[in-house]
Amino acid sequence: MNDSPPSISLAAPRASYLAHRQEINVAIQRVLEGGQYILGREVAAFEEEFAAFVGVPYAIGVGNGTDALELALRACGIGPGDEVITVSHTAVATVAAIELAGATPVFVDIEPASYLIDVRQIESVVSVRTKAILPVHLYGLPANLPAITETARKHGLRVVEDCAQSHGAVLNGKNTGAWGDVAAFSFYPTKNLGTLGDGGMVVTRDAHLASRIREMREYGWVRRYVSEQPGMNTRLDELQAAILRVKLRYLAQDNHRRARLARAYLDVLKESCLRLPSEPSDGVHAWHLFVVGHRQREELLNFLDQRGVGTGIHYPVPVHLQPAYRNRLPLRLPLPNTEKAAAQVLSLPLYPELPIESVQQVAEAILEWES
Ligand SMILES: Cc1ncc(COP(=O)(O)O)c(C=O)c1O
Repeated sequence: MNDSPPSISLAAPRASYLAHRQEINVAIQRVLEGGQYILGREVAAFEEEFAAFVGVPYAIGVGNGTDALELALRACGIGPGDEVITVSHTAVATVAAIELAGATPVFVDIEPASYLIDVRQIESVVSVRTKAILPVHLYGLPANLPAITETARKHGLRVVEDCAQSHGAVLNGKNTGAWGDVAAFSFYPTKNLGTLGDGGMVVTRDAHLASRIREMREYGWVRRYVSEQPGMNTRLDELQAAILRVKLRYLAQDNHRRARLARAYLDVLKESCLRLPSEPSDGVHAWHLFVVGHRQREELLNFLDQRGVGTGIHYPVPVHLQPAYRNRLPLRLPLPNTEKAAAQVLSLPLYPELPIESVQQVAEAILEWES
């Protein structure tokens, strides 16, 4: 392994801060001087702006994406004894949130080309206990939402979207997050809309779900010191909201830059024998990650490491094989595509401030490795 830091990194949250430094510093100063640090004007304004961005009436700022998913599920009345259908090829947080809500995750496999939930398998695992389908728009690519919402309607299930990686992704003219009953976003620093700490958001078009979530994020309070239901403490704080308001203004532009860099990778790598990322047939990819697949993934990773190129693996071990879940969550279906993806995927450097020359350099290095 190369011990020096990569000269081309996988992601660069600091570059995003530096790109908007002046405006972010002004926003931070405004909060510091304003004296209200929890659930004040910044959070309220950001909730309104983010809801408008997604195209839904309600958005509730919370502490992180995992809490956003847990609250989304709990607000739907999902808890102990209930089952939620999802994928194992995802961030462990997706599955952790289902268990935090008290429910049981039930896995289906992914489609090999898109790495997303294989909708055709959903009906084979629906049981009397099933309450929801939880698709993950992994890497920024929208899952097959028309088919998912149709299957959910047929079986009376909720759809809870995991949009942690899909800020700005669109399918058939509608943003991810606006399709399901409720959706969860993360603002972890490396996300397409990332803050300088932790943050998350739940969005919905359902007024009842919105008010339940709003109460639950703060001790179940309907007003100060009056808890109508058991809640938790997971508030988005004013500082993060102020930073996110600045960055939201640049999200469309940043996503365009990501898309331009992704095109540059695709142009050079079309001659390679890598498995290249899928694109939506009628929609917009948010290009959170640029993920390729190869049987000799470790060799390619080591080669790029020697060349000073930072890479990542999203994700090296599927959730059902993680020590915390293995032997505890019985599988209803084998997950061969999930296990193959975990062995073959490799994420290449991609962030809005990355120079296009660096993308060309990485892509050409890959062709050289192949030859
Ligand atoms: C697909 C997915 N779901 C959920 C989460 C959880 O978000 P957070 O880290 O903000 O809790 C993440 C982020 O890591 C993610 O990538």
